[in-house]
Amino acid sequence: MDKTILITGGAGFIGSHLVRLFVNKYPNYKVVNLDKLTYAGNLANLSDIENAINYEFVKGDIVDADFINGLFRKHQFDAVIHLAAESHVDRSIEGPMDFVMTNIVGTANLLNAAKSLWQGDYTNKLFYHVSTDEVYGSLGEEGMFLETTPYDPRSPYSASKASSDHLVRAYHHTYGLPIVISNCSNNYGSHQFPEKLIPLFINNIKNNKPLPVYGKGENIRDWLWVEDHARAIDVIFHQGKNAETYNIGGHNEWTNIDLIKVICQVMDEKLGRAKGESEQLITYVTDRAGHDMRYAIDATKLKEELGWIPSLQFEEGIRNTIDWYLNNEEWLNNVTSGAYQNYYEQQYADR
Ligand code: NAD
Ligand code: DAU
Repeated sequence: MDKTILITGGAGFIGSHLVRLFVNKYPNYKVVNLDKLTYAGNLANLSDIENAINYEFVKGDIVDADFINGLFRKHQFDAVIHLAAESHVDRSIEGPMDFVMTNIVGTANLLNAAKSLWQGDYTNKLFYHVSTDEVYGSLGEEGMFLETTPYDPRSPYSASKASSDHLVRAYHHTYGLPIVISNCSNNYGSHQFPEKLIPLFINNIKNNKPLPVYGKGENIRDWLWVEDHARAIDVIFHQGKNAETYNIGGHNEWTNIDLIKVICQVMDEKLGRAKGESEQLITYVTDRAGHDMRYAIDATKLKEELGWIPSLQFEEGIRNTIDWYLNNEEWLNNVTSGAYQNYYEQQYADR
């Protein structure tokens, strides 16, 4: 094997797409997927590659420093691509401490383990940290986030991700650790846990349940096909410059309400419902506390320096996504049984 790479959070939404891409595209890389398998982690996301000879799954918690140090000693990783995180803003509002522990302490543990294993010999070594556009805060009607935009996180989730970004940069400046960070906009596609807007609304429409639109539905997000995010990480991992930051985005801004109406229209078509039927499920509910108004990524640097552009137009991507959830009823039923029901009732009861 040319390299042994640790991918953390590989059983989650984006991580599973990235693991699949690396295992299939790079037979000479050994990919170790470390995941705690929280509610958001699901090994069924990787059933197609679970027996690949260049792939190994390890169940474990990045917050456990002894375990992490042992794992690094055992596998002698050449590189880390760190995605493991608590990722849902609403959950961070209800319970910030899991976010502090996993996103901040967990990242520090991985940095310490890499520093201690590599011992200052950084030839062909890399710590790649996967972050979010939410660290930049909230935009007004104009402008986009650049790599140089000052940090202004406003939720416990984004503050924990911003902290982890700062730690990663600090380990570069202080200890010389080779690092790269990417900050991406909202992802959509298959295998996303149905607490997030798009899969939640697809699932609710399917089950004729209300569609809880926060506030007036005027908040804006910039949506990117998850496989394009995985491709961007691949490009940055191989060609990105040491200590650089790359923004990744879809140039694809939608107000929530317009996006929801598109989902309703496609669902009417796919389910053979009358035009406009699913839109009747739209219910305006109490806004998210501290709800960021608008995110928009300027990904010019990634395009001009590394040649990456999104491959899929949103109109096609959203149809593919809806088809995937409708064709994978068992996956959806499995992840929405049990603890999900309690979460759903608590999250939406008082709105
Ligand atoms: P996800 O919630 O679907 O997956 C997170 C994964 O991390 C899960 O498999 C979970 O089991 C694992 N995990 C959580 N805590 C852990 C711990 N303590 N130890 C080990 N594993 C743990 O998240 P996602 O949407 O795939 O996001 C992945 C990464 O990308 C995150 O770092 C997130 O901040 C970032 N990101 C996400 C988006 C998005 O739109 N989803 C956009 C930009 C950046
Ligand atoms: O921008 C990148 C971020 O995108 C990632 O870092 C996060 O991990 C990811 O969860 C996502 O955060 P958002 O808060 O933007 O995504 P979410 O799907 O939770 O919400 C999208 C928009 O939809 C947001 O404006 C809130 C709104 N919303 C969401 C839910 C769950 C609703 O109106 N109703 C809902 O029930």
